[in-house]
Amino acid sequence: MPPTHSSYDRLSRWYDWLANGSEGPFRQLGLRLLQPTAGETLLEIGAGTGHGLVALSRAAGATGLACGVDLSAGMCRVAAARLRRASVREGVLLAHGDALRLPFPSARFDAICMSFTLELFGPAEMAGVLAECRRVLREDGRVGVVALDQAEPANWMTRLYGWVHRRFPTWVDCRPIPVEEILSRHGFRPIAAAAGKMWGLPVKAVVARTMVGA
Ligand SMILES: C[S@@+](CC[C@H](N)C(=O)[O-])C[C@H]1O[C@@H](n2cnc3c(N)ncnc32)[C@H](O)[C@@H]1O
Repeated sequence: MPPTHSSYDRLSRWYDWLANGSEGPFRQLGLRLLQPTAGETLLEIGAGTGHGLVALSRAAGATGLACGVDLSAGMCRVAAARLRRASVREGVLLAHGDALRLPFPSARFDAICMSFTLELFGPAEMAGVLAECRRVLREDGRVGVVALDQAEPANWMTRLYGWVHRRFPTWVDCRPIPVEEILSRHGFRPIAAAAGKMWGLPVKAVVARTMVGA
């Protein structure tokens, strides 16, 4: 079992208590930037405890579809309970699966979002995740990424975070990444971005479109 998988299983019941207060506003910022609309087919990768999926299903409405995928069975259970509590029953699909092998057919989605998930992957896996995004997106589809940003020069908080990450990679697992540069390198054209700080750490929300022929 990959460590990410098992650590999020253990964290799942406490995740919102630990992280939602700080990550939630940035997840919402990313969704506002992505502008999901009624009738669209939408996917959240690393759907976590399901906050984003509830928002996506409301945006997609009765004529659209919102899907979520997460590698952790524990996170999927918490997300399923949230969907039930929010009375979201139709037009939503939650899959226990891997971002590196998305359990969806090609050209299925209008838009994909990920928050605090892409930066969990190393460079080779990140390329695999973004290749999967391009595969399941329709032509001219959108991807919205919210991630810890590798802003230069690194501030003292980023350096402290990096130190803790190197010592406790299982628990402090996100790595700041140059979000726009990575998306451009992997076949996406950034079209909108917003930046902020979480506990002094730079965070970036970026929306990009697939580049035709990439
Ligand atoms: C830092 S949490 C963020 C959760 C959620 N996006 C949010 O904003 O609250 C990262 C999520 O990615 C999931 N994850 C990690 N590796 C994954 C993979 N290979 N495929 C799908 N999900 C994965 C974890 O289980 C966890 O739920």
